[in-house]
Amino acid sequence: TFVVTENCIKCKYMDCVEVCPVDCFYEGDNMLVINPDECIDCGVCEPECPAEAIKPDSEPDLENWLKLNAEYAAVWPNITIKRDAPADAKSFDGVADKLEQYFS
Ligand code: SF4
Ligand code: F3S
Repeated sequence: TFVVTENCIKCKYMDCVEVCPVDCFYEGDNMLVINPDECIDCGVCEPECPAEAIKPDSEPDLENWLKLNAEYAAVWPNITIKRDAPADAKSFDGVADKLEQYFS
């Protein structure tokens, strides 16, 4: 599966949503997550993210992000249509500690 990681928070560009063939993105206020049970591992979303926040779970140290994606995909609503990114998205690209400060 692929997972959405920290740099999505407050960037939330949503370019990933439109390309997913199985519509497995779920939406929080400041971040999207992927449902790992629905993701078919096609990989097309990864290069679409301007924040480079989407990674294959084969990369090291992503266990906690995989858990977070699974947990919140179960409670957040499904999103299938891209809307505009937040106006200040760019200013949050690469900011540290977004999970602690801004996750929602
Ligand atoms: Fe969707 Fe493919 Fe990305 Fe999985 S890897 S979330 S199936 S676009
Ligand atoms: Fe987030 Fe990137 Fe999608 S910033 S909303 S994972 S395009």
